[in-house]
Amino acid sequence: MRTGARFNFGVGVACLIAVAMAAPAGDSQGVAADALAVLETHCVRCHGGEKTKGGLDLVTREALLRGGENGAVVTPGKPGASVLLRSVRHETDAPMPHKEKKLAEVEIAAIVKWVEAGTPYSRPLSRTGGAAAATKPAGEFAISDADRQHWAFQPVKRPTPPVIDGAAAAAVANPIDRFVLAKLREAGLGFSPAASRETLIRRVTFDLIGLPATPVEIDGFVRDESPGAYEALIDRLLASPRYGERWGRHWLDLARYAETDGFEHDAVRPHSWRYRDYVIRSFNADKPYDRFVREQVAGDELWPEDPDAQVATGFNLLGPDMVDSADQVQRRHNTLNDMTDTTAAGVPRADPGVRAVSRPQVRTAGAAGLLPVTGVFHAGGVRTRTADPERGGA
Ligand code: HEC
Repeated sequence: MRTGARFNFGVGVACLIAVAMAAPAGDSQGVAADALAVLETHCVRCHGGEKTKGGLDLVTREALLRGGENGAVVTPGKPGASVLLRSVRHETDAPMPHKEKKLAEVEIAAIVKWVEAGTPYSRPLSRTGGAAAATKPAGEFAISDADRQHWAFQPVKRPTPPVIDGAAAAAVANPIDRFVLAKLREAGLGFSPAASRETLIRRVTFDLIGLPATPVEIDGFVRDESPGAYEALIDRLLASPRYGERWGRHWLDLARYAETDGFEHDAVRPHSWRYRDYVIRSFNADKPYDRFVREQVAGDELWPEDPDAQVATGFNLLGPDMVDSADQVQRRHNTLNDMTDTTAAGVPRADPGVRAVSRPQVRTAGAAGLLPVTGVFHAGGVRTRTADPERGGA
């Protein structure tokens, strides 16, 4: 990436990240989002997109309330009296969607709730999104109330640890033990016997640095009877450079890290390791996650003086690439798509418009959801790598 792109790349991305981390939609917004998604998927194509069949345009609330050739189609607050609902329930001579399968019950229910709530529009419907959406499986992007209950979208709170009494209390070493033991007791179980010190050091060493403890380390720990021995062991492992190597690997997987281009020639990228080492350093330095993400998506713009932040942007170009492709325009689009995809799939967030549950869905979000993100990358500008094998450089 080069610095000095006209568009302020860093700020754009910072906004995106801010939006992405914002709280999920509240209740009334949720009702609107559910219903609007249904209308966009099944109706806009004929009602406000390419056509306005029956004179009915559903794109904005004003247009909806204007109604069609035969007059009003909804009475906000009164689902029972609304032609629109009778048409989707197939209770009229013009069942909707026209000549297509009836909507699923959950989709109809979403419209009912929305009419009850007064047909709120949190946004105008996409005139083109309808056409693209119609080719998607029904309801793919309708986010239900059940989805909203997912633990990841709940506010963080500090629960009160369960009370453990009687003899079992002796086994409790920390508040987490209380939660675990309470659940075990529900099932009529208790803790297993404590692991031996040999086993304990072997386990935590594998966990934290991915390597076995050496015989010398094991002996030292077994003999160390001081009260803080375990804590000291954990501190030593967390401080080990091996810690970043072990845990950085998981991020490298998300970042589709590779040391070659992929595709036919699969040329070596002689500088990939710089990015790899940056990730390891970040883990070892206990870098805050938001800084870590920003450095990778827009480090060159946000911290132009920081070499680490420059190296971090290698994240964007780690994907498969055909450097000598005959169609460089196509190559550029492939690269932009890959950046968008990787960022959307790798960075967890709560914005359902962009981030979907699985990778295939991220792909199909295409036109409506991801284009704005791709636009940000596009505006950032990318120095195109040449086919010169000496240069490489992720
Ligand atoms: C393939 C095109 C098509 C799709 C998709 C479609 N409609 Fe229609 N719609 C029409 C046509 C054509 C008419 C006019 C029908 C008529 O007058 O017999 C119409 C008329 C209507 C009317 C007016 C009926 C009346 O009696 O005044 C409503 C309300 C309506 N559509 C709602 C919807 C809703 C809601 C959806 C999505 C669930 C939808 N339509 C999807 C083609 C479509």
